[in-house]
Amino acid sequence: MKNRTQENIHLTTEKLQRELLSRKYIQEIFKELTDEVTKYLRVPTPKNIEQEEEWIKKSKETYKKWENINFIVTDDAGDFIWTCWLMDLNTSTPEIGLRLKESARGKGYGKEMIAGLIKRLEAHKKFEYIIYRAHVENVATNKIAKSLGGELQLDEQWNAKIFTERKFDKSSSFESVEYRIYKK
Ligand SMILES: CC(C)(COP(=O)(O)OP(=O)(O)OC[C@H]1O[C@@H](n2cnc3c(N)ncnc32)[C@H](O)[C@@H]1OP(=O)(O)O)[C@@H](O)C(=O)NCCC(=O)NCCS
Repeated sequence: MKNRTQENIHLTTEKLQRELLSRKYIQEIFKELTDEVTKYLRVPTPKNIEQEEEWIKKSKETYKKWENINFIVTDDAGDFIWTCWLMDLNTSTPEIGLRLKESARGKGYGKEMIAGLIKRLEAHKKFEYIIYRAHVENVATNKIAKSLGGELQLDEQWNAKIFTERKFDKSSSFESVEYRIYKK
């Protein structure tokens, strides 16, 4: 991903627009980061908006180093859908992820967002494979990964390999599985 042009940052998909994360949507981000959403994520439910300020600040730093990119996603009417991201861009195994506000779920946006991130990496970056992690109970995420060619990682007994993920604030942990998406 050598050329950091507006064109490849603002790559759009069929129904969605992406732009770099900024403070523009901070109120919406804070409002939508509910227990229902964070139960599948390492990020805990924020106690105050300052935590989101901090996240946006850190995100700018990792973007400058060209390690991670966080996007804000809006629909074709310009309404806030939420976020998706590329992580570990300085490695041969970048990771992708997303979250949608509750009212935007079940409309195919999640699949479209992940497909868009894969397309972007395939067009702009050399990689061995892309990592996509899913909470074991997150049916929609697991479906998205499988339908986009993700290969579920298995253990020695050929069962899904289980990863224990700790919340960033260390308050709890949950089990997840890993999919790898190889370049077509
Ligand atoms: C998980 C999430 C990204 C899914 O996005 P979405 O836009 O609702 O999903 P889509 O509409 O694209 O649906 C993808 C598939 O999952 C299915 N699906 C959607 N919601 C579902 C649900 N609640 N239960 C079962 N299947 C579901 C869809 O039918 C579709 O299957 P298909 O391809 O066979 O038709 C979204 O719910 C979310 O942001 N959740 C909170 C944060 C999170 O879990 N992030 C992922 C961390 S890896």
